[in-house]
Amino acid sequence: MAPFLAAGKPVRLLEIGIAAGGSLAIWEALLPPGSRITGIDIHPACAVLPFGPAVDVHILDASDPAALDAALGDAVFDIIIDDGSHRSEHVIATFGACFRRLAPRGIYIVEDLHASYWPDWGGRYRAPGSSIEFLKTLVDALHADHFAPWDTGIPEDERARLVVQGAEITRVTFHDSIAVIERGSDTRSAPYPPRLKRRRSRPGCDFTGPRGRIARGIGRHRRVLGPRGAG
Ligand SMILES: C[S@@+](CC[C@H](N)C(=O)[O-])C[C@H]1O[C@@H](n2cnc3c(N)ncnc32)[C@H](O)[C@@H]1O
Repeated sequence: MAPFLAAGKPVRLLEIGIAAGGSLAIWEALLPPGSRITGIDIHPACAVLPFGPAVDVHILDASDPAALDAALGDAVFDIIIDDGSHRSEHVIATFGACFRRLAPRGIYIVEDLHASYWPDWGGRYRAPGSSIEFLKTLVDALHADHFAPWDTGIPEDERARLVVQGAEITRVTFHDSIAVIERGSDTRSAPYPPRLKRRRSRPGCDFTGPRGRIARGIGRHRRVLGPRGAG
């Protein structure tokens, strides 16, 4: 958030989950003049909360793309915050429905991720389908251009999906209970060149980069001290 506040330019913010309106009131007070704040909640009572003219409220299910299209048209946002139900299935579906509304260089924030470890919130440690496990796959998406073409352990449809998803993501940051996913300035059309080069003829034996220097060091150590380094 800090770079957006420091820039002092109007910000387009979408928050999923209004409840009593506490966070929208904070954004109203905090964001630079000219900012637009859009709140979404599934509960009709949120429609009558008193906000200033910078705030729009929509009553809908944030995981429903058709409802989002009807309410928001083609609007995009610099900041999207998911502070909705925190149930894993909703977090994942909401990301699927809302991430495409993130503007270039925008950030998508998922709050209260600790709920993804709670069985009664649709989560559990390392459970397939938990929101934290889904968000970890975005780390794979970020690196999908670098998957080895000869790695047959990656299903083709999964590889293709992750490449497409990864092209739109430039950074994934995890904090305690919060994930921040950042969109690039544009959709990446080619892989970033890796700094560590591989030699296909000798997979796993790269002696050109920092790992190679470590491997060469271990080799020298073994030659001097014997195979177990025990002398
Ligand atoms: C944690 S509260 C929001 C708190 C608020 N952001 C604040 O900090 O003041 C969660 C809200 O999300 C709403 N919610 C739950 N599921 C939702 C969904 N699928 N779509 C939109 N809103 C949802 C609930 O009605 C509830 O008001």
